Order: sequence, then structure tokens, then C-alpha cells
Amino acid sequence: MTEKIFVDNLLSGRVALVTGGGTGITAGVARALAGAGARVVLVSRKMEHLEPAAEVIRRDGGDALPFAADVRSFEDVERAVAATVAHYGKLDIVVNGAAGNFLCPAEELSANGFGTVVDIDLKGTFNVCRAAFGELKRGGGSILNISATLQLLGTPLQLHASAAKAGVDALTRNLAVEWGGHGIRTNAIAPGPIEDTEGIKRLLPEPLKEKLRRRIPVGRFGRVADVAHLAVFLCSDAASFVNGAVIVVDGGHWLNANRLLSPEG
Ligand code: HXC
Repeated sequence: MTEKIFVDNLLSGRVALVTGGGTGITAGVARALAGAGARVVLVSRKMEHLEPAAEVIRRDGGDALPFAADVRSFEDVERAVAATVAHYGKLDIVVNGAAGNFLCPAEELSANGFGTVVDIDLKGTFNVCRAAFGELKRGGGSILNISATLQLLGTPLQLHASAAKAGVDALTRNLAVEWGGHGIRTNAIAPGPIEDTEGIKRLLPEPLKEKLRRRIPVGRFGRVADVAHLAVFLCSDAASFVNGAVIVVDGGHWLNANRLLSPEG
């Protein structure tokens, strides 16, 4: 990230574990945290995604450790947390970005298809928060969950992901209340359509792209940096009184959806 938004070293001395940090939005979040001075552990299933992402961070002068783990496995996640503490000595920030999704009508969705997405997005988020709790409460920590806007309305073909992300929002608010007293803040970012991401590639057929763009009030798709800037803020002491917030970053898109009358007709 080349833009300079924050003071130097806003997160220096902090250690962050970022799931899904090898690709997409969360890779951008990991780069931004590293750019702000945090040392980051990138976690996802595939080492071939993690190594290049870690290399980009190192090339920019940051410090990153790739660690292969499946967030659906609590044992895997415990190992990732242990490796973080062994390598960097502590853990201050957790970003839950690992997610899985596909388009499927509810009547064709298998129980395993529904369960797989809920397991990655929701249970994976719980697993990481739970495994990290002991370390996060030591020095006062911050959890940042990546949610979505699908679940704010009834989104066709997205029952599984909407259910999972609604659960992530609930988990965010519950942990904010339960763990705030331990010095752990829990917040979420709900990105709308962000360009050049796996989500857009998988979920938005090319012919619908322009139609969707016209429905975004600010007139453009989001950029990974739009999410990453908020992530840096939320994980920093500048947000020390922000706890339990689910912040939508979508240019106003979801507010403009499903209207009888919309500006573009
Ligand atoms: C219907 C499908 C399907 C599809 C998989 N399944 N793809 N059902 N339509 N396109 C079903 C399978 O048939 C199977 O059920 C079950 O899901 C598990 O599938 P597997 O392939 O065995 O699972 P796995 O290898 O663990 O893969 C998980 C995955 C996959 C989610 C299905 O797509 C994945 O790994 N994705 C990771 C990357 C990703 O999706 N990134 C996008 C994130 S975007 P049966 O019954 O047959 O056994 C995102 C944004 C959210 O999350 C918000 C958007 C705005």
C-alpha cells in the first residue's frame, strides 16, 4: 500500500494473526497492518497462497510468518496461535478473514454445502477467537472479524453465507460484551462489493457488473485499501472505545438495494 493515511508505526510492537491473509481483502488488511508496524502471521489452508503474500510484506520492509492451518480445525488453530507466540513472543490482534462461498439456490444446497460455509466463516471465527483468548487478554487485544452485507437483506443464492455472516455479527457483539472486561475489543467490518477479489470473481457474473456499479451511491466498486484503512484504525489505540461495532464499508450500496424506485431507475 503506497498511500500514507496514518502516522508512522501506529501498530509497532503489535503482533497480528490474520486468517485468510494469503489472498483478497484480508491479504490487503495484513499488508496494511504490517505497513503500520505490526508483525503478522498469515494463516490459511494453502501454503502456496501464504508464501507469496508473506514475501510481499517482507519486500516492503515488514515482518511476516506464513502458517498453514484450516480454521475449521480447533487443533490447527491452536497450533497457529502457539506458533505465533513461539515466533513473536505474544499475540495482540486477531483478524478473522478466512471465508468460503459459492452461489447456490437454497433448494439445491446440500446439508454439507451449508455446513461447510458455516464451518469456515462462523465456526472458524469462533475457533480462532477462542484459541487466542488467553494471549489476547494478557496485554489487551483486538479482534477484527470480516463480515458482509448479504445478511442485512434476503440475498438470493446466498443462504449459507448469509447465515454464517449473521452469526459472525452476533459473535462480534457477544464477545464485545463478554471480553471487553478482559481488555479485548471485538469489532467487525462488513465490506460491500470490493473489486479484484475472489468474492467478486465467484459471485458476480461479468454482465451484471455494470448494473451493480450503478447501484453503488458513490459510483465505484470498493478497493481493498478502503477496508484495510478501517482495519488499521480499528486495531489501533485510536479506536480504544470502539467495541462491538459492525461497520459497513460499501459506498452506501446496501441501503440502495431492493428499492421500488432507485436513482438509476
Ligand atoms: C453448490 C457446492 C458448491 C457450489 C461446493 N459445494 N461448491 N454446492 N454449489 N458451487 C458443496 C459441495 O458439493 C459439498 O457438499 C460441500 O459444499 C463441500 O464442498 P468441498 O468442495 O468438499 O469443500 P471444501 O474443499 O472444503 O471447499 C470449501 C468451499 C470452497 C467453500 C466449498 O469453495 C472453498 O474452499 N472456497 C475458499 C475460497 C472462497 O470461497 N473464497 C471466496 C470467499 S468470498 P456435498 O453435499 O456435495 O458433500 C466470500 C465473500 C462473502 O466469502 C461475502 C460476499 C459478498
